[in-house]
Amino acid sequence: MKIVIPAGTGQVGTILKRELAEAGHEVVVLTRRPVRDGETRWDGETLGPWADVVDGSDVVINLAGRGVSCRYTPANLRAMMDSRVRSAEVVGEAIAAAARPPRVWLQMSTATIYAHSFAAPNDEATGLLGGDEAGVPGYWGYSVEIAKAWERAQEQADTPHTRKVALRSAMVMSPDRGGVFDILLRLARLGLGGPVAGGGQYVSWIYDRDFARAVRFLIERDDLDGPVNLAAPEPLPQRDFMRALRTAWGVPVGLPATKWMAELGAFALRSDTELLLKSRRVVPGRLLDAGFSFDHAAWPDAAANLARRVRGGRDVTRDMADGLV
Ligand SMILES: NC(=O)c1ccc[n+]([C@@H]2O[C@H](COP(=O)([O-])OP(=O)(O)OC[C@H]3O[C@@H](n4cnc5c(N)ncnc54)[C@H](OP(=O)(O)O)[C@@H]3O)[C@@H](O)[C@H]2O)c1
Repeated sequence: MKIVIPAGTGQVGTILKRELAEAGHEVVVLTRRPVRDGETRWDGETLGPWADVVDGSDVVINLAGRGVSCRYTPANLRAMMDSRVRSAEVVGEAIAAAARPPRVWLQMSTATIYAHSFAAPNDEATGLLGGDEAGVPGYWGYSVEIAKAWERAQEQADTPHTRKVALRSAMVMSPDRGGVFDILLRLARLGLGGPVAGGGQYVSWIYDRDFARAVRFLIERDDLDGPVNLAAPEPLPQRDFMRALRTAWGVPVGLPATKWMAELGAFALRSDTELLLKSRRVVPGRLLDAGFSFDHAAWPDAAANLARRVRGGRDVTRDMADGLV
């Protein structure tokens, strides 16, 4: 298949390119700064010659959006919103204008669309969308607004010949430098991998190869459209999540941090505490119902495998799949 990945230059794009190219597909990446083979220039805002790449392709997977690990200033929040909504709109315009539109358009969304929740897991059917929760900082609602507007941009696109799926993804864990796992591992190695603000808030996550497998599953399954949660079936409280990560690397202690220490740390790292403190308890209802099985459903096992890959060792799950063990 010919697969076009707008903004396939970041963490998630790297994972998908690796897996899809290995599976023998032709991958074209749209980027604002093309430098490698297989990259085409776009601006993420306006239709241009890049739309020719979409015409005649089989699949489009749009990942574009300004990074979220930043201070949530009004200007940054606006840039997060505009880059996501406008890029989704213009991808829709390119598909609508295509003489041979792609069969399926997978649009990145986020598990952050669900409410801050401890008690009940959120699946697509019964999950509560966020925005009106009591007792959380008002500005958290804006991340939910971004996610809703992002999905709306895809929903409203007039692309009758193209199936549309919104990927409500949890944090994607890969061994790549600069990815989420790399950052958390660095903190743990510095002794800072303890509970934050009590550590009761849930962490939803997905192993990189399960993410790529789920994407391939969604490309194949013509009966699935609309929002789909991409998250391992076993989200867990942050304190247990970090403990398993420390065990995987062999770090004996992780200092606990209070909320204000987290505020200070986030300020120093030019990030925002919402990323640490919001409880994301998201489960993959539709994927499981459709028969998808996760290679890594439980975090301790996933963390051990990721730690092994960071150390340059073998990926045991991959070896088993390839019949090598
Ligand atoms: N990583 C995760 O665990 C995760 C989980 C859930 C959802 N997501 C979402 O999935 C998407 C991809 O995630 P990622 O981790 O791969 O992000 P990333 O590493 O920040 O990469 C995103 C790419 O988007 C492009 N981009 C940035 N600002 C843009 C703008 N203003 N207009 C158009 N393109 C812009 C950049 O590509 P160029 O500079 O090459 O143009 C960048 O490489 C993001 O929207 C993210 O919010 C990520």
